[in-house]
Amino acid sequence: MLPDGTRMRPIAPEDKALLQAGVGRLSPESAYGRFLTGKPRLTPAELRYLTEIDGCDHMALVVLDADGDLVAVGRLVRDPARPDTAELGIVVADCSQRQGIGRTLAQELVRAMGVARVAGTMLATNRGALRLMRALGPLESGVLSGGVREVVVRVGAPVAAAA
Ligand SMILES: CC(C)(COP(=O)(O)OP(=O)(O)OC[C@H]1O[C@@H](n2cnc3c(N)ncnc32)[C@H](O)[C@@H]1OP(=O)(O)O)[C@@H](O)C(=O)NCCC(=O)NCCS
Repeated sequence: MLPDGTRMRPIAPEDKALLQAGVGRLSPESAYGRFLTGKPRLTPAELRYLTEIDGCDHMALVVLDADGDLVAVGRLVRDPARPDTAELGIVVADCSQRQGIGRTLAQELVRAMGVARVAGTMLATNRGALRLMRALGPLESGVLSGGVREVVVRVGAPVAAAA
């Protein structure tokens, strides 16, 4: 569930300034958690990639507050090599974290794309991202290397074994 006064909608090409402003308000910790690098400004090419999406293999939702400011953005990008798996990228504004927004956003993306697995890459120290992933479904794999954790969780029905 989302907090009162917030609403969720698909991202649109017109959201570039909204996204840039939202990223600019993130704490260094949250920006690093999302982008795995300090990322004060997105380039025009990155903004195009993040907002001009096909809505099928790349889906993204924004959560806005009553003033229309960005509260959260989440996306799933299907893995071309494993079409039943999509990579989650998500960030919630610092003052709105731990209110269930990340979980609601991720669950809605999973429902909309209908994939069987979700992959996530996060800093090894990012407990929030790991808990969010585990809230989506059982852990299928987890690899820790160089301070970065890559996990895959199963969110869809198990694939029947071949006869
Ligand atoms: C990770 C993030 C998206 C989680 O969103 P959120 O709205 O704060 O999370 P929710 O309130 O929906 O909580 C989901 C779960 O994570 C847990 N959680 C959230 N933040 C946490 C934290 N800082 N430490 C420990 N657990 C945390 C919640 O307790 C909840 O766990 P539960 O299901 O066991 O009760 C948010 O903290 C964030 O934007 N972080 C910075 C960017 C980032 O790290 N993105 C992830 C890269 S994929």
